Amino acid sequence: MTITANNLPGLPPVTRLDWQIAGQPVPLFFAEIPSAEDTRTDYIQQYKAWLPSPLVSANASRQAEFITGRLCSAAALAVQGIEHHVVGSNTDRSPIWPGGVRGAISHKNHLAVAVASNNAQFVGVDLEVELSASRIARIKSKIIDQQEMAVLEAADIDFVAGFTLVFSAKETLYKAIYPFVKRYLGFSTSKLTGFTDDTLTLELRPDIAQFVPHPASFSIKHRHFRDFRLTLLISNPPV
Ligand SMILES: CC(C)(COP(=O)(O)OP(=O)(O)OC[C@H]1O[C@@H](n2cnc3c(N)ncnc32)[C@H](O)[C@@H]1OP(=O)(O)O)[C@@H](O)C(=O)NCCC(=O)NCCS
Repeated sequence: MTITANNLPGLPPVTRLDWQIAGQPVPLFFAEIPSAEDTRTDYIQQYKAWLPSPLVSANASRQAEFITGRLCSAAALAVQGIEHHVVGSNTDRSPIWPGGVRGAISHKNHLAVAVASNNAQFVGVDLEVELSASRIARIKSKIIDQQEMAVLEAADIDFVAGFTLVFSAKETLYKAIYPFVKRYLGFSTSKLTGFTDDTLTLELRPDIAQFVPHPASFSIKHRHFRDFRLTLLISNPPV
């Protein structure tokens, strides 16, 4: 793993993390979302042209997270040879990547991340902080069923961290398959079937898998990044 500060000209600092997946470095780009009032106001002023119309009247924290996600996306595209491209936003909120590129964005608290690839078929990423026990109690039955619970309990990880990762992995998968299914999918759409120290395996329900080019089973990588939990799906087209 290498982390290098990558200060793009004219833009706030973006940090690059190369995550080794199947022996290949996958570059992820992170940036801090400004939270101090003055800095944030200046930042939004500087990049307000990037905001899609539904966000022009949004609150400052939402505008700042959107802009920071775009900043990370621009860095991710730059390494693919696409310079100064601002990723658009569909009315359903899904990002509009340039032709031939798949990518994903996530932001949580003060941090945003983006990843893009010009040869992967599925790309998803999600950042989380560990969910609180009370939130887990409220949402658990919507996120996992009894069989998935058994897989999670058999994994060598404490329940809160493990549950947070399952939640995150399902969001990562959702972002990666959305370009194929183009509709909202609940958390029961995918099922946790494996959990190791670096990978969660999710299987798509057959009624949804039929809309997605193979495979129907996805390996989602997970790791810590600072005080965050990070999940990533990046898979190349079958040869
Ligand atoms: C869309 C969703 C995944 C966003 O997750 P989140 O934790 O709220 O937020 P994140 O910061 O991780 O991700 C937000 C980014 O995801 C991207 N995004 C939003 N909708 C998306 C979609 N339909 N497809 C792909 N990416 C999407 C956007 O870039 C967004 O940031 P932006 O609005 O600033 O551009 C979540 O709100 C959701 O609707 N999930 C559906 C339920 C689910 O995950 N089911 C699992 C099925 S397998």
